[in-house]
Amino acid sequence: MFTPEGPTLRELTVQALSSVERGYDLLAPKFDHTPFRTPDRILDATAEALRGLGPFASGLDVCCGTGAGMGVLRSLCRERIVGADFSTGMLAAARRTVATPPPPGTEPTVAYVRADARALPFASAFDLAVTFGALGHFLPAERAAVFAGVHRALRPGGIFAFPIAAPPSPGSVLYWTLLGFDAVMRVRNVLWRPPFVMYYRTCALREIRAGLRAAGFTVALEPVRGAARRPDGSPGWALVVARRS
Ligand SMILES: C[S@@+](CC[C@H](N)C(=O)[O-])C[C@H]1O[C@@H](n2cnc3c(N)ncnc32)[C@H](O)[C@@H]1O
Repeated sequence: MFTPEGPTLRELTVQALSSVERGYDLLAPKFDHTPFRTPDRILDATAEALRGLGPFASGLDVCCGTGAGMGVLRSLCRERIVGADFSTGMLAAARRTVATPPPPGTEPTVAYVRADARALPFASAFDLAVTFGALGHFLPAERAAVFAGVHRALRPGGIFAFPIAAPPSPGSVLYWTLLGFDAVMRVRNVLWRPPFVMYYRTCALREIRAGLRAAGFTVALEPVRGAARRPDGSPGWALVVARRS
């Protein structure tokens, strides 16, 4: 699961016993060598699915980490892209990342902003917002603030898009792995302060959809070409496309 360049077990343990913000500060230099960074195949398929919904002038990557989603925005937005995250370590790593430059004349400006996703400091500034691999860091009760902040950050008609995994079949290895992970996290958070919030099983489509609608979005689930298949042949993930109406 981890390459030799990735964190050691000891480093992971120290990170997991820290707060979310501090944990990511510590993990940042090695984050791109962990399975927690969103894989390129998901980023590429997302970009392809969003291309037909553009054009986009400006984009926001919420919880950008080391910048995985910034490449998606860079390929879709003409004028300005912004990555927002509350970990200074992750933002520093993102700033160091050199992405392949797009053709001359089409390059958007790039900025990184330290911000808590539960209180995003933007108003009617973007046509497109994305987020990858971060919604599990918010308790269901906190998601309303995240969705409201993204809604506020978008211009009318703007799109908030993110991949959502199909729920694993009950009894599959993945099902038990995620159940086990969340159970360990819950025990850890009862016994240890500060908490590290990361739960995989709190992001069911039904609740996500309801939360987005409550924030003022219209919501569609878009199939993605090339999405990995589950053993029964159904797609392993799809794209939530929420539009500020
Ligand atoms: C698993 S990483 C994902 C990073 C990147 N989006 C990716 O897909 O590779 C989660 C990121 O969410 C950020 N994060 C978690 N809670 C946050 C919050 N309340 N506000 C801002 N960023 C947050 C972390 O600092 C971390 O960079």
